[in-house]
Amino acid sequence: MTGGGTPITRESAEQMLRANDRGGYTVPNANVYPFQWNWDSAFVALGFRTFDEARAWTELETLFSGQWDDGMVPHIIFHRPADGYYPGPDAWGTNHTPLTSGISQPPVAASTALKLFREARDGQLARRRAQKLLPKLIAWHRWWHETRDPDRSGLVTCVHPWESGRDNLPDWDAPLAAVTPVIDVSALRKDLTHVNAAERPTNDFYNRVMTLVEQARALGWDGARIARDLDFRVCDLGIQCILLRADRDLHVLASALGDDRAATEVGHWIARSDAALARLRAPDGSFRSLDLRTRKLSPAVTSATFLPLYARAIDNEAASALANLFDRWMARVRFAVPSTDPDFVSFDPQRYWRGPAWLVMNFMIADGFAAYGFAEIASRIRADSAELVRTSGLREYFDPRSGVGLGGRDFSWSAAIVLCWDLTA
Ligand code: GLC
Repeated sequence: MTGGGTPITRESAEQMLRANDRGGYTVPNANVYPFQWNWDSAFVALGFRTFDEARAWTELETLFSGQWDDGMVPHIIFHRPADGYYPGPDAWGTNHTPLTSGISQPPVAASTALKLFREARDGQLARRRAQKLLPKLIAWHRWWHETRDPDRSGLVTCVHPWESGRDNLPDWDAPLAAVTPVIDVSALRKDLTHVNAAERPTNDFYNRVMTLVEQARALGWDGARIARDLDFRVCDLGIQCILLRADRDLHVLASALGDDRAATEVGHWIARSDAALARLRAPDGSFRSLDLRTRKLSPAVTSATFLPLYARAIDNEAASALANLFDRWMARVRFAVPSTDPDFVSFDPQRYWRGPAWLVMNFMIADGFAAYGFAEIASRIRADSAELVRTSGLREYFDPRSGVGLGGRDFSWSAAIVLCWDLTA
């Protein structure tokens, strides 16, 4: 096991990915998350890319083996039974083959595919694999832009906190408060046998999010009805920006592969999303998530506020405002980037997405700052990330004040970021 005190090397990070490899897909963590998770796999593939390109493509292909007929790519694929996780396939009741959950996750995969293609050492292999994946990527993005944006507003709908990948953000407090819990699942939880309760979401949170699963089941997992009728409907700033960046990358990929029709379709999505982003900007200049039912912007500013940089979706003036905001946050914590504004009332440096730093967010935020010419900030985020893993190991997330490692150990996406960002250099 790799943990604080044991130096992380490229070899140990590679070894961890290999150890979490279940044959074509990689579990995020052997105990807490024993199946394939969607955006985890997209980052994991970036890690594999550094030492095994073919295996990196396989990670994405196995993920897309769970794609639904309507284009949705589920957030969990239960390729084979495993103990230790709730909610498993029975609780989702989607009856899909392979067994899957019924919601999606931030669409990072197209950005990974472009990187695998563009920076391929084996160009022929990359072209072959990218050609096969392209229509599936297009179908998934179309699902976001059509099924999840029934009014073609340019803002896509997220119907579940787990879909955002940033499960218990303060952003979801008000929208979840409007969901009346109809079940009590506290006795069914398994995460608390692996991780300290203070670092995990509460039982009340679980009861509400599982109530949403019950609602979707009652709608027969009909995508169109879910997007219109579920009691939780938000535009998650994270998904919105990650999708926009992934659309730009998909556009480049489709063009490079000579699929002009696909490129044109993606171009329309990009134009619509670009125009819509201003609706997520608060009067103080920060970007936030939007409750689509109440039309209220979230009272919290989270680390996704920096993702419009990653999406290349703002002008230089807005980018400078984000650089100033970053400096303000860093005057309050030691390690970049806290998941929630350290001045926000419910900031909690140890609880999941309410404060801790996550390497995958750091990677995307640094990419954004670098693209806008803020090289110093980008290097600061990278250096902090390197120090976090050096002192605390490949943990799931980290206390941004003390650097203490939190959540699960031996985490695949943390190993992947170490490899693709070269954090041991
Ligand atoms: C947690 C995270 C989510 C991630 C999953 C597997 O649920 O919030 O983003 O995909 O763990 O690592």
